[in-house]
Amino acid sequence: MAGTLIRQPAASEPIGTALSARDLEVLRELDALVRETHLLWDQEWVGFSWRNYTFEHMQRVRALARTIAWGEGADLRVVEFAATLHDITKSYDGEIVVGPDGKRVLDENGFWRNETLPPSRSNRVTRLYDRLGLAGTLHSVSGGRVADALLEEYGYPIEFRQRVDRAIREHLKAGDDASIEGRVLYDADTIDANIGLPAFYRNIQISLHREDTQYARRGERFIDWLREHLPGYLDSYLRERIPAWIEGKERDFIPKMTTRTGRQVAAQRIARLQAITAALIAELEALEEALDRGRLAVVRYFMEHRQNPELMQQLGVLEARWADSATAPPAAELLRLIREEVEGQV
Ligand SMILES: [Fe+2]
Ligand SMILES: [Fe+2]
Repeated sequence: MAGTLIRQPAASEPIGTALSARDLEVLRELDALVRETHLLWDQEWVGFSWRNYTFEHMQRVRALARTIAWGEGADLRVVEFAATLHDITKSYDGEIVVGPDGKRVLDENGFWRNETLPPSRSNRVTRLYDRLGLAGTLHSVSGGRVADALLEEYGYPIEFRQRVDRAIREHLKAGDDASIEGRVLYDADTIDANIGLPAFYRNIQISLHREDTQYARRGERFIDWLREHLPGYLDSYLRERIPAWIEGKERDFIPKMTTRTGRQVAAQRIARLQAITAALIAELEALEEALDRGRLAVVRYFMEHRQNPELMQQLGVLEARWADSATAPPAAELLRLIREEVEGQV
């Protein structure tokens, strides 16, 4: 089902051809720093993100940004560093501010205004954030500034740092004058959160977390209710909510893509998710078998294992579950497609 329209780097020409050994060493350190930074906050959920979400999101955005960068002829080095650091200050975004009318409050750029959420502990990044006086700025602005400061500490020249800073600033809103690297990052970031299988996984987490919260208010546990009513819940979730959600994303986000390659990736991922949804709905007819070996077994696992989940960890567990089957069950096919999208394939 994966498309082959877009040229991707072959195994023999890894991303490293554009990056020096020193770059790769710095990127490894930055990866560890980004993960460490998100873990300085103890909240399990803030807005639409759970604690382990943002680091995995960054890794997927980076993988997809590489693919889009190849298609667009963007500077792979700038894209690699900008993608790695694009959300480094995202954890400062607290709950979305709601006005007296119950509506989300917008800032002068049309973004939802967030409360600033301070970390519970500090590190190199939070010290930079404080020293640069970044509280109250958009995470695209603060992220660009922090990236610039970190890369300066590593000895990168000003021209390179400015290009990384700019691409990070542009990741929330890539206007007509945006750099190609900023547009690549914008498209990859938007696709990961909204379109395709990683976004479907996120939809499961957000939808069911909302149920958790509502049940908890009544002193009940949604997971107990779900165990009793799984067939009915899957039926309405897959027949009604997911198709409407995909349609909305197609309508709202395909036109927002800023590169030809990004638009192709987004369209292909929408088509794939529609086909998968149709297959999931068909599986509802033979539910018992499907919950054991079908694509629905994967969806059920995601629904029932939601304690600060990590998609990569869950993929590994599930792939091992069906690895010994003589014939790959439909569950394994869905896992393969999820892994392809996580790795940035089209
Ligand atoms: Fe972001
Ligand atoms: Fe992001």
